[in-house]
Amino acid sequence: MSTALIILAAGKGTRMESDLPKVLHSIAHAPMLWHAMRAGRALDPEATVVVAGHEAAKVEASALDYDPEAKVVLQAEQLGTAHAVAQAKDALDGFFGNAIVLYGDTPFISEATLEAMLEARQTHDLVVLGFDAADPGRYGRLVTQGEALERIVEFKDANEEERAITLCNSGVVCADAATLFALIDAVGNDNASGEYYLTDIIGIGRSQGLSATVVRCDESETLGVNSRAELADAERLFQSRRRAELMADGVSLQAPDTVFLSWDTIIGRDSEIEPNVIFGPDVTVENDVRIRGFSHIEGAHVSRGSTIGPFARLRPGAELAENVHIGNFVEVKNAVLHEGVKANHLTYLGDAEIGARTNIGAGTVTCNYDGVFKHKTTIGEDAFIGSDTMLVAPITVGDGAMTASGSTITEDVPAGALAVARARQEVKPGLAKKLFDMLKARKARQGKGA
Ligand code: UD1
Ligand code: CA
Repeated sequence: MSTALIILAAGKGTRMESDLPKVLHSIAHAPMLWHAMRAGRALDPEATVVVAGHEAAKVEASALDYDPEAKVVLQAEQLGTAHAVAQAKDALDGFFGNAIVLYGDTPFISEATLEAMLEARQTHDLVVLGFDAADPGRYGRLVTQGEALERIVEFKDANEEERAITLCNSGVVCADAATLFALIDAVGNDNASGEYYLTDIIGIGRSQGLSATVVRCDESETLGVNSRAELADAERLFQSRRRAELMADGVSLQAPDTVFLSWDTIIGRDSEIEPNVIFGPDVTVENDVRIRGFSHIEGAHVSRGSTIGPFARLRPGAELAENVHIGNFVEVKNAVLHEGVKANHLTYLGDAEIGARTNIGAGTVTCNYDGVFKHKTTIGEDAFIGSDTMLVAPITVGDGAMTASGSTITEDVPAGALAVARARQEVKPGLAKKLFDMLKARKARQGKGA
């Protein structure tokens, strides 16, 4: 049966104290909204509807950035979660199947949990995701009778006895879409908040003879973000989970707590990540790669057998083939380094293509920017770029060519040629000694107060 996702993301998130709507605050370099959309995407939904309200244009742009096929609908006034879901009805016109309601500010619901809910839907009309709360606080309480869910009562409306229940509502609900919208039509707002509660659909459904049940998940999955402090908690949780997953998949992290991953970081088996490495978005590292300490990597692809760092920086568009060596204080941006290239020390390689086995000497710089335009440096295979070479782009150095160290290369170097572009050395015998003697004598005179 097909599935539709309805993601509620209209709230302002007052406690974030931010101009940015809450769901656009990032965890591991992706807006919270994307984490919710990604969790749902695992179900291969036929439709995804995002309900936006506060800063709807920004929320829409972000949702479409993640999934260009998502539908974004507007909830102009935030009248409650049931009212929010009702806004998705038109967008799902002609859809037949299960609808799952998720919150944009609850980024950790797992794929397995959503699958368990769909499974429970096969035997129950309404499925709610619940959790046993250590501190039930202000969560809605699930009122059950045996396995059956009778109703959900919001904290504000609950009596003493109901508040004592520790089984809480995560907010995630699954039902047949037509059933869901029919029930929502029947929801009123005669309650302590004057809001249209999505949670009321359970009591209404039960009174109509529908069945309802609870699928339980770990409390950590339902972690919602309401403040900057909770955002930091969510970041910590994301990081520790993802590190654990990578290690379980065969990646070595010597000091896991010091490695920071992005929401989309991929690292292959038998790769080793030393302490204090930071991954920005869009990085894939293949198997058997060693990333040494204090390296910063974003938008890069590192192939099998390569070594990066310590203190290396790979920026967007860094494409490294197999067995490439990038050493300390080397920056690579928008550059293709073919197999076996070595750049071991103090180098900037930007807007470049470097052929297989070429050695880049210490202090080499591709001078790619003229102040207005960016230009490309192309270096062939088996070339040798001497230390402290300035490659003034656009420039081409052929296969097997060499540049003398200290050269500023402004003209193309043909294959097999040596380019020397530096002042010729002169040697003045005895002059150094003469200069030293003169200077020392001057210092001695000054010391006497001259
Ligand atoms: C809701 C549940 C509560 C549950 C809790 C879990 C209801 C009535 N209550 O309470 O049982 O324990 O979540 O976190 O559903 N939103 C909109 N439009 C609105 C109102 C809300 O898009 O008009 C969005 C919010 O942006 C948020 C989500 O829905 O992402 C939940 O809304 P929120 O007001 O935080 O609900 P809670 O009071 O926490
Ligand atoms: Ca909330």
